Amino acid sequence: MIKTGYIQFHPVLGEIDGNIQRINPFIDQTKDADLIVLPELISTGYNFESRHYALNCAEEINNSRFVEFLISKSKEHNAYIVAGINEKNGDELFNTSVLIGPNGYLGKYQKIHLFMNEKDIFKTGSVGVPVFDVEFGKLSMLICFDYYFPELWRMTGLNGADIICHPSNLLTQNAHKTVPAQAFMNKVFIITSNRIGTENDLTFNGTSFIVNPDAEVILKASVDKEEVGMIEIDPQLARNKFVTSRNHAFNDRHPGLYKGLV
Ligand code: ACM
Repeated sequence: MIKTGYIQFHPVLGEIDGNIQRINPFIDQTKDADLIVLPELISTGYNFESRHYALNCAEEINNSRFVEFLISKSKEHNAYIVAGINEKNGDELFNTSVLIGPNGYLGKYQKIHLFMNEKDIFKTGSVGVPVFDVEFGKLSMLICFDYYFPELWRMTGLNGADIICHPSNLLTQNAHKTVPAQAFMNKVFIITSNRIGTENDLTFNGTSFIVNPDAEVILKASVDKEEVGMIEIDPQLARNKFVTSRNHAFNDRHPGLYKGLV
């Protein structure tokens, strides 16, 4: 069993240092967790008025005050942390999620399905959907609007992920329709960590949640409060891909009959 959870948080747009200071006590509340997931773009906020604005508060992963902060907290708590970051990479910006462990930075996922005005700011992710082996299982990351595209969840499931971390800035309840289904269809745990608050015309709606491989929502946050949620899960349950005694989520597929899918 491991202890895992989310931090539902309200960042201030563009204020990396202030956000780090305010996230710190929330991370301290999770100090006995093994894996904790923070929302999308959590060090900068989301609703940038322009690409120029976003560029001015982006950070390179290997030169980032936010990543350094997460590395120090992971070491201090001997825990894994997943969090969204506004990533500068050369001249490009990516809506990225990093995985940090007690020994430092482990890797990243760059959001593939960009939502609305994100298309004016970020480039489509180019690192695929990596799966990371840690002591208690295999971890992967998808970001917010990726929830709408079953292809990524299936790829991630087929690549062996036990737990899919899903940093989000959700504006609707639509992820609540698709994420449990994806957990069920791939027999994985999913941790959706959302933010709250309003930035100009956008209001984010909290309700961070954790789903088990049977599509059961085992933990859920409020709509509008900053909060930490933690629960014990057994990642090994995601290794059983049987849906019935004679049906297997992956082995019963017929890829040869799925022509036209890609
Ligand atoms: C979203 O992808 N942040 C809605």
